[in-house]
Amino acid sequence: MVSPKDLYYPFSETSKKVLLKDGVLYLPDKELLEEGSFYFAWDENELFPQRLPIHIEYCSGNGDWVIEKAKADPSTNWIAVERQFARVRKIWSKKVNGQLSNLLIIYGEAFQVTRDCFPAAAFAAASIHFPDPWPKRRHAKHRLLAAPFFEQVHRVLKKDAPFTLVTDHFESATRSVEALNQHGGFYSQHPSPHWVEPPLEAGTSWFERLWRSQGCKIYSLCYINSDATVS
Ligand SMILES: C[S@@+](CC[C@H](N)C(=O)[O-])C[C@H]1O[C@@H](n2cnc3c(N)ncnc32)[C@H](O)[C@@H]1O
Repeated sequence: MVSPKDLYYPFSETSKKVLLKDGVLYLPDKELLEEGSFYFAWDENELFPQRLPIHIEYCSGNGDWVIEKAKADPSTNWIAVERQFARVRKIWSKKVNGQLSNLLIIYGEAFQVTRDCFPAAAFAAASIHFPDPWPKRRHAKHRLLAAPFFEQVHRVLKKDAPFTLVTDHFESATRSVEALNQHGGFYSQHPSPHWVEPPLEAGTSWFERLWRSQGCKIYSLCYINSDATVS
């Protein structure tokens, strides 16, 4: 059995580079890379033992949701994208202890990873559960749930692939509905107001359990990619 602290941070502050090690793909921001470093050239054969449809989970936190999914569905390859190393370590220890070779962890920022690394029309599904809402207007620039990210999600999903977004934050839900409806390359699986309150399922995330235990309302959006980008 391994514990989270058994995963060592493999860089010094000045030596960051792209690295695939122990089932974790390290994708530092391009501007932090050592001079002369190359960015990752996407190759599924290098990342997973088998070629299978891939489902991305962004902002995976401690990984509860994606770990349950990877265990329950070995006919899918799963990707967890998380930008805090302490949380990557937690996901990693669960992956190793569960012997989940169908799960890749990406240590990186969701928008940059998608824009700079993921190929077009390559993924069978994408999900995001309880991303940080950044509710204050002066923090709006930090919000991931915005048109540039949705454009990238659209670019990397296959045609008819679902993008599921779950949040407890009403403004994040309404802003996302507006941006996704405006995009034009998605349609909502749910009629107006374009979200449902999801039933409690096996395989919920840590934050879903927390917010439900506090009686919060939960909004689940599901948008289908109606026209895939041609690569
Ligand atoms: C509120 S937690 C939710 C964690 C998990 N999805 C859950 O529901 O339990 C948000 C997580 O998203 C990560 N995160 C926030 N912004 C991110 C970004 N732009 N790229 C990657 N991870 C991000 C944070 O580090 C944190 O672990």
